[in-house]
Order: sequence, then structure tokens, then C-alpha cells
Amino acid sequence: MKNSENILVIGGTGKTGRKIVTLLEELGHKVRVGSRAAKPAFDWHQPENWPKALEGMDKIYISYQPDLAVPGALEAIEHLVNLAKYASIKKVVLLSGKGERVAELCEQVVIHSGLDYTIVRASWFNQNFSENFLLEPILDDFVALPQAEVKIPFVDTDDIALVAVKALLEEEHNDQIYQLTGLRDLTFKEAIDQIAKASNRNITFMPITVEEYSEGMRKAGLPEDFVWLITYLFTEVLGNPKNSEITNDIEKVLGRKPKDFSQYVQETVAKGVWNPSVTQFI
Ligand SMILES: NC(=O)c1ccc[n+]([C@@H]2O[C@H](COP(=O)([O-])OP(=O)(O)OC[C@H]3O[C@@H](n4cnc5c(N)ncnc54)[C@H](OP(=O)(O)O)[C@@H]3O)[C@@H](O)[C@H]2O)c1
Repeated sequence: MKNSENILVIGGTGKTGRKIVTLLEELGHKVRVGSRAAKPAFDWHQPENWPKALEGMDKIYISYQPDLAVPGALEAIEHLVNLAKYASIKKVVLLSGKGERVAELCEQVVIHSGLDYTIVRASWFNQNFSENFLLEPILDDFVALPQAEVKIPFVDTDDIALVAVKALLEEEHNDQIYQLTGLRDLTFKEAIDQIAKASNRNITFMPITVEEYSEGMRKAGLPEDFVWLITYLFTEVLGNPKNSEITNDIEKVLGRKPKDFSQYVQETVAKGVWNPSVTQFI
């Protein structure tokens, strides 16, 4: 390995990508942030600009948007991997979803590319409660979700980023598929109860059906492709009992246990994310 590598982090402003960018820069690597606002820009909808983003890079981290299961994702990954080979990229680390059978088609493209690779399959992120679609209902003190009884081994994006960085830099992770989960699994209600207690909020949790949830999103005017994706994630991914399995892959790679959900909750409370009006005046 060179002391300083050129690494393109696609999704480099997102939940895992921005942490990977920081970690790699701290280690002295030259990072190109893959973002629509970067120069050169990387936009999944503008494949004609991908060669510019790949030029001069040694390795790439791919966080696809919005999800490897959406129509068009497979073709996009195939095209990007072909361009990566042409650009003499040596290694690809692909972020995928644990238990997402459709996403596995995209994984296969990377696995059979002839390039060194690591597949990082993550469970649902802790950060969905603080940086994603669950934040707004928490701030409204009313969370209504389907699959309320399902146990989910939520994983922290800090741990995903650390695993991805090791995968990018260390050869021993070549040709591996890692399945990343947290230490224990929680239902949505258990997770919301922890957040409510720690942030001193009185949050009501209401179990609903997937159909009611989808209908609610439509009534709120959310775009149909977003409704489709969230419905797919709640049925295909959370509806699959295998997805409650806890793995020890984070410990295998990092040599320590995953960050616990309670630690994530404490850190997020300290940042004021769930009490914005309080921290505003501190
Ligand atoms: N959230 C979960 O629980 C979870 C679990 C397992 C796997 N995953 C996977 O993780 C990946 C990231 O998901 P996320 O929802 O958490 O998002 P995220 O990482 O927060 O994604 C936002 C990132 O995507 C970029 N982006 C958005 N639209 C783009 C476009 N058209 N072209 C290029 N870049 C674009 C944004 O860059 P700019 O806005 O700067 O352009 C930003 O860097 C997805 O593939 C998802 O399937 C997520």
C-alpha cells in the first residue's frame, strides 16, 4: 500500500461517507468527495461525468442513492464498475443493506468485477432516528410505525465508517462480505422509549400496518418512488426474520464490540438533535 492513496468516497457528504472522508484525511490520504456539489461533481443521474470523478483515483467507496434495490441501481453499478476498471481502480468497497436480496445483485457485479472488493452489508442505521425520516416524528412526539414487534440490530454509522476505512486500506479485507449489526436488537418502541427517556420527551409510539404507513406517506405528499422504497424496506427487509440476527463482524474487524444504542442516544442527546429549541439558547 502507498503511504497516501487517492480515494473517491461516493456519498461523501452522507451519513457514512462524511465520516469516512474525515478518517481517511486524518490518516493522510487524498480524498475526493463524491457529491453533486463537488468539483468534479458526482451525480448518479449524470453518468457522462463519472470518468472525471474516477480519474487519478486508486480506490472507491460506493454508497448508492437512494438504495441498491431501486430500479436502475443495477445498471448504474454495472456501468460504474466498468468505468472503474477502465480507470485502473484497484479496490471497491460497496455499502449494501443486510438482508436486501435485490441489493445482492449489485453486490454480485462488484464481486465478479475482477477488482479487489469488500462488501459492507449494514443493518438499519442508528442515525435514522437523528438524521433521517424518523427525526421529524420524534420532534413531533408522535411516532407511528409498522413492524412494531420486529427486533432490529441497529448499527452505528461511526462503526460502519471505521470498518469501511479498514476495508479500503488493508488487504486482509479483500474479497470479504461483512454483515454489520449492533450489539443487541431492539423494537422501534424500545428504541423510541430510550430516546424519549434520555431526551426528556413524552413521545407516543403507535404500531400501524405497512399499508397504513404507505397511505400516510402518500397523504403527506411524499413522492411515489420514496413511498415505494420505504414500503419495500419495511416489508422485504424488516419482514425477513433473518435480519434480526446479530453478527460479530464489527468486532472481527475493529477488535472491539459495536457501539451500543444507548451510547448513540447519549451522544445524540448531548448534540441537542432531539431538543433543538433548548440547545438554541444555551
Ligand atoms: N439508512 C439505513 O438504515 C441504511 C442501512 C443499510 C444500508 N443503507 C444504504 O446506505 C446508502 C446511503 O443511504 P442513506 O439514506 O443513509 O443516505 P446518506 O448516506 O445520508 O446519503 C446522502 C448522500 O447521497 C448523496 N446523493 C444524494 N443524491 C445523489 C445523487 N443523485 N447523486 C450522487 N449523490 C447523491 C448525497 O450527496 P450530495 O447531496 O452532496 O450530492 C449524500 O452524500 C444507501 O445505499 C442505503 O441503501 C442505509
